[in-house]
Amino acid sequence: MNRDKFVVANWKMNLSHKEAVRLAIEIKNSLLSLSLVKIILAPPYLFIPEVKDILEKTAISMGAQNVYWEEKGTFTGEISSSMLEDFCDFVIVGHSERRANFNETNEEVNKKVTAVLKNGMKVIICVGESPEAWKKGDISSVIDEVEKAIEGVDRDMIEKVIVAYEPIWAIGSGKPAASTYANKICLQIRQVFSSKYGRDIASKIPILYGGSVDSFNATGYVDMSEIDGLLIGSASLNGQEFINIVKKVSKIK
Ligand code: PGA
Repeated sequence: MNRDKFVVANWKMNLSHKEAVRLAIEIKNSLLSLSLVKIILAPPYLFIPEVKDILEKTAISMGAQNVYWEEKGTFTGEISSSMLEDFCDFVIVGHSERRANFNETNEEVNKKVTAVLKNGMKVIICVGESPEAWKKGDISSVIDEVEKAIEGVDRDMIEKVIVAYEPIWAIGSGKPAASTYANKICLQIRQVFSSKYGRDIASKIPILYGGSVDSFNATGYVDMSEIDGLLIGSASLNGQEFINIVKKVSKIK
């Protein structure tokens, strides 16, 4: 199955306004003609409209790092899917930093998935095991996170779902997962879709890897049978490094 390749930049809570604009312009100027890979930039909410303007007429898409599941109302400080839909094509949900720092539960992740899909965007669901679970070789929490996140999602919507497998111990640690290990887990994630929606649909779901990816190790992941791209944190804050990663994934020397 030939699936599209994705490279997603998760800027997290980094960069000043000026730095964000400069980075978006640098990426736009270097990657304008690259249509081989789907590139998604996910800046902090505040910078989304301006980065979107900078990227207009390019093939680079906009993403958000989070969303709240309610449509509107008395939810001070939150942003809804219907607010994002004019700006973004993708929304990241369930990042392990949100699960750990903001106590986000699987049920809440599921509500966010439902809200994003209802508003016509694609959703990037992050899942990954703790260091303790990894040491025990127990990835049941990963499977559980996937199953709960997609609970109630209909067949006609499931093709708008992307999964990012991000082992918690690999994020920001400089200790990326071995590509063969990541591939094995991505295959098990694909099997969740296969048992719920059938093999044909499962074979179309993009599954990405994230966790200490850089331009040296990027190719190793996307050469694997089950890994369809990368979710990049810290390396996406350096324009040249991010551009090099995209070029590696596109197989451009
Ligand atoms: P990292 O972050 O590339 O800095 O490890 C990945 C992520 O959290 O998405």
